[in-house]
Amino acid sequence: MIVTTKELFKHAYGKYAIGAYNINNLEQCVGLFDGNMKSKAPFIIQLSKGARSYTNKVFLEAIIRAADEIYPDAIFAVHLDHGDEQTCYDCIDSGFYSSVMIDASSKPFEENVEITKRVVERAHAKGIVVEAELGQLGGVEEHVVVSESEAKLTNPADAKRFVEATGCDSLACAIGTSHGAFKFTGTQGLHFEVLTEIQKLLPGFPLVMHGSSSVPQDEVARINAAGGKLNGAKGVDADQFLPAAKLGVTKINIDTDGRLVWCRVHREHFLNKPEDFDLRKPGKVFMAEYADFIAAKNVKLGSAGQLDDVRAMLKK
Ligand code: 13P
Repeated sequence: MIVTTKELFKHAYGKYAIGAYNINNLEQCVGLFDGNMKSKAPFIIQLSKGARSYTNKVFLEAIIRAADEIYPDAIFAVHLDHGDEQTCYDCIDSGFYSSVMIDASSKPFEENVEITKRVVERAHAKGIVVEAELGQLGGVEEHVVVSESEAKLTNPADAKRFVEATGCDSLACAIGTSHGAFKFTGTQGLHFEVLTEIQKLLPGFPLVMHGSSSVPQDEVARINAAGGKLNGAKGVDADQFLPAAKLGVTKINIDTDGRLVWCRVHREHFLNKPEDFDLRKPGKVFMAEYADFIAAKNVKLGSAGQLDDVRAMLKK
């Protein structure tokens, strides 16, 4: 069942975070649904601009519609990740997405407000909710490239002004994470003091943490042992998810870790079986391993085991 992120956040706020997972193809979709069903978790499917054009957005949407039918117990939101204004309108008008993200965080404050306001107006008219972003995360994610020197943490007072001015439903805050597999070069970490301040100024308002892959070191080591070159890759400590959730983070974005599972499975498969060329063999392994990965992540997020309770809340 497709619901809005707003409904999911209402249940999660202050207790746990919903996993927002990026997918691009059928195998990821199957693993995602299997993993969430196995761990009994509500979840968010995120489609980026790049994912929508990888093949054709209609394919991807059809795969998700099929999954909705095949897994009747699943409760999830369909969300556009890092949309520009035009892509947001495309998703709003499609009637399929329950949530969009407008990312105008690279623009000056007032321009970000204006763009976000326009998207909020069009989305709300159709019952679709909007995530916006203020502050800038570092790292590379498809068309979004922000150098370390350009990255800036969200200013809490600006966050309050921004939310009040735009009417957005949730806010992605920059608190020290970055997109991709190379998040930290030294001992940097999350800025909980920024989150604490934002929550004080915006009590009850759902916050979003982008760039939250953990980049597990055993996964990186296995990829490198199978011919990869991911030296120095480092991610967010997954034990920080629940403390962040207590401070109002209701959505935690994970993309890179899923790609690492895919990369490791396929590298190891073809390294160990050089005579093989059947895509279904590593594909099967990937779907099972991705499902296990999702289920384990949901335990860290605290969303595991919440599904029945969310269903009961939706029935009220
Ligand atoms: P990661 O690169 O840490 O997985 O972050 C993904 C993300 O924030 C998508 O918007």
